[in-house]
Amino acid sequence: MVALTNFEDMVRTSIEEKVDMIISGAGLPLDLPKYLNKDSVTRLVPIVSSGRAAKIICEKWKSLYNYLPDAIVVEGPKAGGHLGFKAAQISDEQYKLEELIPDVVKEVAVFEKEYQQEIPVIAAGGIYSGEDIYNIMQLGAKGVQMKTQFVTTEECDASIEFKNTYILAKEEDVEIIVSPVGMPGRAINNEFLDAVKRGEKKPINCPVKCIKTCNVETTHYCIIAALMNAYKGNFKAGYAFAGSNAFRATKIRSVKELMNELVTDLKAKMGL
Ligand SMILES: Cc1cc2nc3c(=O)[nH]c(=O)nc-3n(C[C@H](O)[C@H](O)[C@H](O)COP(=O)(O)O)c2cc1C
Repeated sequence: MVALTNFEDMVRTSIEEKVDMIISGAGLPLDLPKYLNKDSVTRLVPIVSSGRAAKIICEKWKSLYNYLPDAIVVEGPKAGGHLGFKAAQISDEQYKLEELIPDVVKEVAVFEKEYQQEIPVIAAGGIYSGEDIYNIMQLGAKGVQMKTQFVTTEECDASIEFKNTYILAKEEDVEIIVSPVGMPGRAINNEFLDAVKRGEKKPINCPVKCIKTCNVETTHYCIIAALMNAYKGNFKAGYAFAGSNAFRATKIRSVKELMNELVTDLKAKMGL
């Protein structure tokens, strides 16, 4: 996340350690290619929420570093966690993923053609079934990034309490919050968030100094502590981020089972 105070360190270390790919969002990663050297193997994949942002990144990267994104993730307003939209845009039809994908594909196609390089567009946010994958690929996406579905798998390393918040959630429990980061986020409502809304929470200190935009003097709670507490199962002091489909989970299953279901559904839609 570009907004992290240790973003540079994370990028440098990832590239040095030869990770396959950096998927970078929460701000525009305008200078990401500058960390590459001639021996780098790491692919760079920015996350955008508009065709305009995709164009800016392609232009900047090409002119300053002679580099184009290896792929682009387009994250729509149904995603979990922090969202790259203003609160009013989240429910605005104009900003739905089905509108954003063709817009980004169109902008990216100009660079693909000019520089003879493929830039796959990957759709994220609210993709839940094989049918969803099929539909979004019809609009030009070459792949999808999914998270909410994978939270309620055996392999997900979050606590069982975290997974259970998804299974127990009703549709109306999945809501938009204002995060200390200064962006809207999507989470499952609970007593902790209700207390925040009543203005009852106060951070005692700033343990990690994680986000550039967070002001410890004015923020209502520490976001990193709240998310880590939830991850470990302590919902008295935290809450779960979740995509808009989180309430649809009914059980915990294996990734294999989930993947089989997705592939079977997708193949059926493709007539295979
Ligand atoms: C619990 C949770 C935590 C997330 N945390 C991050 C994060 O730290 N950084 C980020 O860029 N995206 C984060 N996301 C967004 C996902 O990476 C993903 O793009 C999005 O949720 C996909 O939509 P889906 O959950 O509907 O499949 C998070 C999503 C969830 C559900």
